[in-house]
Amino acid sequence: MRILSGIQPTGDKHLGNYFGAIRRWAEQQHGADCFHPIVDLHAITIPKEPGELRESTLSLAALLVACGLDPAVATVFVQSHVPEHPRLAWVLECMTPYGDLRRMPQYREKSAKEHGFGVALLTYPVLQAADILLYRADAVPVGEDQRQHLELARDIAQRFNNRFGDVFTVPAGTYPEIGAKLMDLQDPTSRMSTSADSDAGVLRLLDPPDVIRRKLRSAVTDSGREIVRSPDKPGVTNLIEILAATLGEAPEAIETRYEGQGYGTFKADVAEAVVGLLEPIQRRYGDLRADSDELHRILTVGAEKAHAVAAATLARAHEAVGFVAP
Ligand code: TRP
Repeated sequence: MRILSGIQPTGDKHLGNYFGAIRRWAEQQHGADCFHPIVDLHAITIPKEPGELRESTLSLAALLVACGLDPAVATVFVQSHVPEHPRLAWVLECMTPYGDLRRMPQYREKSAKEHGFGVALLTYPVLQAADILLYRADAVPVGEDQRQHLELARDIAQRFNNRFGDVFTVPAGTYPEIGAKLMDLQDPTSRMSTSADSDAGVLRLLDPPDVIRRKLRSAVTDSGREIVRSPDKPGVTNLIEILAATLGEAPEAIETRYEGQGYGTFKADVAEAVVGLLEPIQRRYGDLRADSDELHRILTVGAEKAHAVAAATLARAHEAVGFVAP
């Protein structure tokens, strides 16, 4: 079983990214062959300052390892280190209908916001398909927002296989919606997001303990005083979910434990739990980020492992379409 999922080196990752993706990847790595590209080629579809992109890429690599992805087990690599990604993307672009890409919801949203964007904003999902198909991944765990991209990758694989023979594995998207969906602490009706207008509602994985405590202290709570999940108590519900995910407990257990207690104690406990979860991650992150030789070694090993698989698939695809072998 091979699993692939990519992550963008943009924005400071938050607790929602951790529970929704990174922690799951760390759990899955022992039961499957896992590939996790840091997708810097995708990141530049929206203009990036070079220094910032470089820093975000290295920082995210260190963070993934600090969160438990073991480079000796899972393949963590930088997408631009493996030249097969854009090379396969080109071939796939030649057989992807323009109209399919024009219709992609993310393209429509982003192109409406950006001015003078490059054509790669349109072809972005084809590069994503290449990321997946190069590794012949069986499963691609992603958020609901990636569903159309996954469907496109499946269409592309099927179309290619029908026309040229069986080269690609048709990947299954998996959309783990079980477990926490974290909401913004200041606006608990919208999701915790890297690009939120205000930082106050977002618990970043690298926020120092006092910042975590302050953000949780000022998290909006709802009227009433009961610590229970309910649609008219989105703030408290979110804090219960955060504590449950942090401690690895059921939300019901949290509700029972806090029966009759006030918001103050509860929020302070959530803060301490989150600080306790992040403390070892931040320590490992700090060590690795300071050791650039080790970080580069990890990324070199990752790129080599990825390249070995990707090169074999690309060669088969090139052969299938009729390119003369070099
Ligand atoms: N588009 C994905 C996102 O924005 C990132 C991504 C790039 C990805 N390539 C991928 C996700 C391959 C899964 C598989 O989150």
